[in-house]
Amino acid sequence: MANTDDQFKKVISHAKEYGYIFQSSEIYDGLSAIYDYGQNGAELKKNIREYWWKAMVQMHDNIVGIDASIFMHPTTWKASGHVDAFNDPLIDNKDSKKRYRADVLVEDYVAKIEAKIDKEVAKAAKRFGDAFDKEQFLETNPRVVKYQEECNAILKRLGQSLEKEDLADVKALIEELGIADPETGSKNWTDVKQFNLMFGTKLGASAESAMDLYLRPETAQGIFVNFLNVQKTGRMKIPFGIAQTGKAFRNEIIARQFIFRMREFEQMEMQFFIKPGTQVEWYDYWKATRLKWHLSLGMGKDNYRFHDHEKLAHYADAAADIEFKFPFGFKELEGIHSRTDFDLKQHEEFSGKKLQYFDPEENKNYVPYVLETSIGLDRMFLAVFSNSLQEEDLGDGKSRTVLKLPAVLAPTKAAILPLVKKDGLPELAQKILEELKWDFNVTYDEKDAVGRRYRRQDAAGTPFCITVDHQSLEDSTVTIRHRDSMEQSRVAIDDLKSLIEKEVNVRYWLQKMNDL
Ligand code: GAP
Repeated sequence: MANTDDQFKKVISHAKEYGYIFQSSEIYDGLSAIYDYGQNGAELKKNIREYWWKAMVQMHDNIVGIDASIFMHPTTWKASGHVDAFNDPLIDNKDSKKRYRADVLVEDYVAKIEAKIDKEVAKAAKRFGDAFDKEQFLETNPRVVKYQEECNAILKRLGQSLEKEDLADVKALIEELGIADPETGSKNWTDVKQFNLMFGTKLGASAESAMDLYLRPETAQGIFVNFLNVQKTGRMKIPFGIAQTGKAFRNEIIARQFIFRMREFEQMEMQFFIKPGTQVEWYDYWKATRLKWHLSLGMGKDNYRFHDHEKLAHYADAAADIEFKFPFGFKELEGIHSRTDFDLKQHEEFSGKKLQYFDPEENKNYVPYVLETSIGLDRMFLAVFSNSLQEEDLGDGKSRTVLKLPAVLAPTKAAILPLVKKDGLPELAQKILEELKWDFNVTYDEKDAVGRRYRRQDAAGTPFCITVDHQSLEDSTVTIRHRDSMEQSRVAIDDLKSLIEKEVNVRYWLQKMNDL
């Protein structure tokens, strides 16, 4: 595909054309940064959620799952620090009247320098061929070293200024770097101001008695306030985890990257409660384990990297992102945060209730420390979808659009296609469909020539096409075609279930984590 912009546009239009993602309330011209999942999107999203849940909850004896409410007592957000500190530093351009996140303007500037480094690496790799040593090149090439130092210095200063709440210095940095409004080129900036991201709402019938509430900006607090309920009723022993998936809401200012940054989105979070002092060990463990989960999906090792935070959130003593190479560059996909005992201690203080654990080994009570893994389900969806969408050259001037979704996540596992719409082939195809649908999400398609139907299923991401032809009536065999290789083989109808099962079952995919 021509360039990253075109590629991203193609992702967005393909997601709509194949029933994955629609703009919310589209008939009323939509709502910015709010999206709906269509018939295929809902299935893909569900499959990603299940893949996460299986790995985190079902496969860990010491992790359990809950489902807390979106509405929480308003003091929750005072205690968690979100009322006072869940802010974005915003800057307005006086000429264009456009509003930006000041830190994102600086980060985008750095990303441009990083893109230059990538270009140098690609050029050198071409020049040196097999003898190319990327690590050595990054460490010794003077131009690359200079670029890297520049990036580090800028990010360090940004991190320090944000940490100290020195917003004047953030503005000074933007001006010193000569950063212009990305849309108009104007450098006429206002001061940087903080803006709270939580959505407020009201609970209660009358204006006087109504209580001010927030839509939760993260699912994590539902876990913290239930820490003791789960620990006691589940007789959980430290270390143990509580996981949940659910909606979160943020009044995001920058909302232009499709489902990457939404105002209503879904998180998959896990809080792992540990003995104070063991956080470094668990931090390393969860960083490695979560990366393996991503790699098990086979989307390319080079598409992931860790980014250690310079600027730590108000609750963390260490934090890293797992970044993924989206069509618009490497960006945060998941966060691993060492949250100390900040949240539980705050809830103790604000609620007046003890949130402690009696450790029988230590024979004492303490407030546990917490290691958090937090991933946006929609962001994971975008990573999977954008990485899978490919334009494949088939030679002889032919090409195909194929959505190479990991088979375990694909919305529809197989399409059953009668070769022609007569001679009893549709009836046999329907019979196969009726049987397979007990185990898999399958579909039936009899319209158009079979080649066109294959292409349609390729583009929708269906891993298998099963074609019923005249021979099928005689010997109860069909052809099974694999989406990625386009290879076809003749198999017994009775073997279809086990053949499909082998390639789509969660065990087969998740077990890859053990080999990494
Ligand atoms: N409980 C910690 C927490 O919420 P975060 O880094 O703010 O940390 C965690 O969010 C993950 O949630 C991110 O890595 C991202 O995948 C996802 N996320 C955050 N804001 C989002 C948004 N506006 N739209 C989509 N996903 C978002």
